[in-house]
Amino acid sequence: MYILGIESSCDDTSVSIVKDGCEEIATVISSQIDIHKLYGGVVPEIASRHHIKNITIVLEECLERANMTMDQIDAIAVTYGPGLIGSLLVGLEAAKTLAFVYNKPLIKVHHIAGHIYANNLVNKMEFPLLALVVSGGHTELVYMEDHYKFKKIGGTLDDAVGECYDKVGRVIGVPYPGGPVIDKMAHVGEDTYDLPIPLKDDSYNFSFSGLKSAVINLVHNEEQRGNPIRKEDLATSFQNVVVKSLTEKTMRAVEEYNIKNVIMAGGVAANSGIRDELKRLCDKDEVNLTVPPIRLCTDNAAMIATAGYFAYKEGRIADLSLNSKSSLELD
Ligand code: KG4
Ligand code: ZN
Repeated sequence: MYILGIESSCDDTSVSIVKDGCEEIATVISSQIDIHKLYGGVVPEIASRHHIKNITIVLEECLERANMTMDQIDAIAVTYGPGLIGSLLVGLEAAKTLAFVYNKPLIKVHHIAGHIYANNLVNKMEFPLLALVVSGGHTELVYMEDHYKFKKIGGTLDDAVGECYDKVGRVIGVPYPGGPVIDKMAHVGEDTYDLPIPLKDDSYNFSFSGLKSAVINLVHNEEQRGNPIRKEDLATSFQNVVVKSLTEKTMRAVEEYNIKNVIMAGGVAANSGIRDELKRLCDKDEVNLTVPPIRLCTDNAAMIATAGYFAYKEGRIADLSLNSKSSLELD
């Protein structure tokens, strides 16, 4: 079964064709990072305008790379939420138009289900599993008993971890998005700044706004005193706290839920500090860890086409009245 996936929830316009929910045929991603960089973050109105300009080109290029025509596609899967409403609408309208014109089933996919299912392009997902979902908008621990059975066991009480990376990046003056830059800087610095470990409690929840404020205050205080910030050292100190906070709670959940399979999902899963530490801890406890390759961690349509295959099997077919939703619970 060939599924054509469409993703446009934030600032990437992407179309992909995936066979049987496990074999990537072709994926095209058009990133708008260079445009939004000028503003220090994603500007929603500009993002949707660029999606409109890009969507047809990206679709045509994907079909060309796959050497396929729309007649060979069995169904259309699309991200319908959560995300920026204007951005989502562009992908959704494109998907509805294709479904209508070519008379194909329309499958609705939750953006985070997509991130989780990116793992099925690496290894066949084995259940029960625990997913550490870390992106620009989400920080969650999700327990899955089987395909499309999502149980959120914890989540952030305030900022998402990616959002926190990007804000810290802005404060220390690195270009948007700050996450990948801080990750690189963290490798050359030393852990010299004392930052608070957030929410050390018995829950599986996270909190990053206190850590973000601690970094902002530290930078302002040092600036007022005329002390230059050692940016690499701050990046290392910050990343170490993030890694500790995420991996400790993940491993506690692994134990409590008797998990043998852990997966990572979302843009921040590209972070080498988190990947390396989680790998070390999982190896120690003889737990399998799957992490998508970096290009499948950040937003892409291959993950949507993959999740779409399993959503289709669950009967998650939508009609042309499907609307996009800026906020949406994973279910
Ligand atoms: O999943 P994603 O592409 O978009 C959302 O759905 O939010 O995630 C984007 C986020 C951004 O906050 C970006 O800074 C972060 O992922 N990110 C990273 C790294 N690569 C991307 N954060 C930390 N370390 C990285 N290597
Ligand atoms: Zn995402």
